[in-house]
Amino acid sequence: MSTGQKILNWVDERFPLSSMMKEHVTEYYAPKNFNFWYFFGSLALLVLVIQIVTGIFLTMNYKPDGTLNGAGIPVAFASVEYIMRDVAGGWIIRYMHSTGASMFFVVVYLHMFRGVIYGSYKQPRELVWVFGTLIFLVLMAEAFMGYLLPWGQMSFWGAQVIVNLFASIPVIGPDLSVFIRGDFVVGDATLNRFFALHVIAVPLILLALVVAHLIALHEVGSNNPDGVEIKKLKGEDGKPLDGIPFHPYYTVKDVLGVAVFLIVFSAIVFFAPEMGGYFLEHPNFDQADPLKTPAHIAPVWYFTPFYAILRAVPSFAGTQVWGVLAMGAAVVLIAFLPWLDKSPVKSIRYRGPKFKIMLTLFITAFIGLGILGALPSTNLRTIVAQLFSFIYFAFFLGMPFYTKNDVGSTPVPTRVTMSTPARQARFVVLVVATLVAATLFAKFI
Ligand code: HEM
Repeated sequence: MSTGQKILNWVDERFPLSSMMKEHVTEYYAPKNFNFWYFFGSLALLVLVIQIVTGIFLTMNYKPDGTLNGAGIPVAFASVEYIMRDVAGGWIIRYMHSTGASMFFVVVYLHMFRGVIYGSYKQPRELVWVFGTLIFLVLMAEAFMGYLLPWGQMSFWGAQVIVNLFASIPVIGPDLSVFIRGDFVVGDATLNRFFALHVIAVPLILLALVVAHLIALHEVGSNNPDGVEIKKLKGEDGKPLDGIPFHPYYTVKDVLGVAVFLIVFSAIVFFAPEMGGYFLEHPNFDQADPLKTPAHIAPVWYFTPFYAILRAVPSFAGTQVWGVLAMGAAVVLIAFLPWLDKSPVKSIRYRGPKFKIMLTLFITAFIGLGILGALPSTNLRTIVAQLFSFIYFAFFLGMPFYTKNDVGSTPVPTRVTMSTPARQARFVVLVVATLVAATLFAKFI
């Protein structure tokens, strides 16, 4: 017996290492027809690790202090400048962290979209989805609090706008917003508590939820682009006929995804870390000034669809509470998809036209709201945002009706199928058409 084997045996007698590796990696059978959309779960894990590691190094030099230094610059703002200019390798660590924040949402939005097109939230994966929605909610809180830390103009005024929304909640609102801020305005106390929450409390919750997400997934097994339950058809050896071990097959596939992702990620970090003001907003290069409101306050791009919904709802009797409720409902409704979708089939491949039309409208509305939320509002933009908000909610609330009996002409196969060149071509055309349409809309609205 080799020394390595002896060490492993020693560990196994005290900790279930080999059996855990078997259960979750080498003998976790995943459907053999995973495609492009299945890259984003492992990529989300990768970004999570990037954020934690770069975050630890940022914390070594960042100072959560809103008071002014001798030069009249807030200490927190100055400490970020110090990281960028004086700390060895500080700039790359910071740009990795800021790019990572945006890429987290790119990856998670695509990951969620995959869940919707393949009906991955449907029975028996409801809890995988619910944990996912909680992750999304917590991720938004994490990003929001992190954005205050550089203590720039957008950090300050963005936080001011969002925390003030809580004040519109009847009865408890005003006290609640003071409780969140720790002061009557966003100030040093707010910065300190957001720092504490951003670096330890929320990441702990996030990690726990990701573990729960994966445990739930491995309990029921992965879905796939056909929505066929591979556990229902097992060979004589008791293994799913359409399954392949996660390792080495999908570890190798995921390495390809990681390589491509890192190329894109590095290109942004090295050549376009601000991404034209979408990843790092230009007003945030000015220090926070409570006496100077920026002309146009817009959240970072990943919040803009929800921000557009908030702005689309007019305030009644001087209160924004309905807009706040609509924005909250827009996120919470996602968790209810498993119970709103009454379709007898999972994958879009075997659904009827109603779901496909509604999904196309929904994606149009979601991207449209994202674009509108980043722009200053005008009468026309508000009307379009109202129309898109209506479609957004109609997609969810109408689902029990339009998904019932909405099946396509091809029945669900008993075995999984592999992708075809025609399908891949259609996918490329759809992606290009979406990008062109979004660019044109952003230019002319
Ligand atoms: C930090 C964020 C997240 C991480 C690290 C993560 C990780 C993963 C991983 C590794 C998988 C298995 C591989 C794959 O199917 O791609 C997975 C599957 C899944 N995730 Fe996530 N996830 C995250 C967020 C979310 C969110 C926000 C949702 C939805 C609201 C979600 C819903 C799902 C579903 C439904 C599956 C099963 C998909 C299937 O089997 O077809 N996840 N996740």
